[in-house]
Amino acid sequence: MPKPLPSKYFTSPRLFGREIELFFGQGWVWVGRAEAIAEPGSYFLRDVAGESVIVLRESPGSVRAFYNVCRHRGTRICTAAEGNLGQRMQCPYHGWTYGLDGRLLAAPHMPAKFSRDEYPLHPVKTAVWDGHVFVNLAKRATALERHLGTLPGKFAAWKMRDLRVHERIVYEVRANWKLIVLNYSECLHCPLVHPALNRLTDYLGADNEPPTTSYLGGAMAFAPGVETMSASGRRRRDYLPGLRQEQRAKVFYYAILPNLLLSLHPDYVLLHSLWPQAVDHTRIICEWHFHPNEMSKPDFDPSDAVEFWDTTNREDWRVVELSQLGIASRAYRPGPYSEHEELLHAFDKLVLRAHARKSTPLARR
Ligand code: FES
Ligand SMILES: [Fe+2]
Repeated sequence: MPKPLPSKYFTSPRLFGREIELFFGQGWVWVGRAEAIAEPGSYFLRDVAGESVIVLRESPGSVRAFYNVCRHRGTRICTAAEGNLGQRMQCPYHGWTYGLDGRLLAAPHMPAKFSRDEYPLHPVKTAVWDGHVFVNLAKRATALERHLGTLPGKFAAWKMRDLRVHERIVYEVRANWKLIVLNYSECLHCPLVHPALNRLTDYLGADNEPPTTSYLGGAMAFAPGVETMSASGRRRRDYLPGLRQEQRAKVFYYAILPNLLLSLHPDYVLLHSLWPQAVDHTRIICEWHFHPNEMSKPDFDPSDAVEFWDTTNREDWRVVELSQLGIASRAYRPGPYSEHEELLHAFDKLVLRAHARKSTPLARR
């Protein structure tokens, strides 16, 4: 019987640093939503694998990202977490000034032979999928489409680009980032940990897809009479437009590695993004996204969805924190997985394969 990863993968700062490089420094990382940078010049900063990245709207149809590193003497250019740059960004040190396309526009006091063309900001690969912005720091990144595989087709009906965030809650969880992914990928814990959730779906009824190297997930059908994941199981909102009957009858849970947990409901979408801070500390940003038609209704009240998942989140964070504590014990030896934990074993294998890689694209720079 397969067993979970040894404890060092959850406790070693060295292995943690390697995972940050392997998964966040070389993979497609979810950084935010395109709606957050709707206007040209608007931007947000994200910390990706220890790098400050400026993600900005260059033009109505173009999202770009750059290392937040001045080409003169390296100074951080942007410091506010988000805002609007106007048409250019200026380094606060000596005033080197860059366009939204990263070109160096002005560099005061440089000699005549200095060529501004040779010093654009270092670009970061960026791609947008249905309103989700991803970046990839790798020099030779595969296309985001390859990473996402069949998901864009599978989830097209939710039209996620049309949805808007209504609520965002940030959690500081004292657990390794992989424990969050592992916990999300099984419902064996649901009867004990989530009594309210467990009334809405059959905890043994997950219809999981064969795992891939970039995402793990599946669907769970609602119990009779249940229409969505909420405290009552009743649906206060219209179905998202375009969903077929079978898509209305389930909740879809997908962990898109390394850092997006995407939960598609018939009437809203829930996102968790994971931001590892230390080997035993993960910041989790949870967002609830709704259709603008619903949000504009005078009686729009999403508290059923927000409170339900906030409660469920806290139940999950409690057990993953307990798990982290026990895994750190000298007495701990991984016990066997059950057959309902097949996604977890697949994830473990993927982590081990990543660790076994010899060189990294960044190492070749
Ligand atoms: S370090 Fe940026 S202008 Fe000098
Ligand atoms: Fe859970």
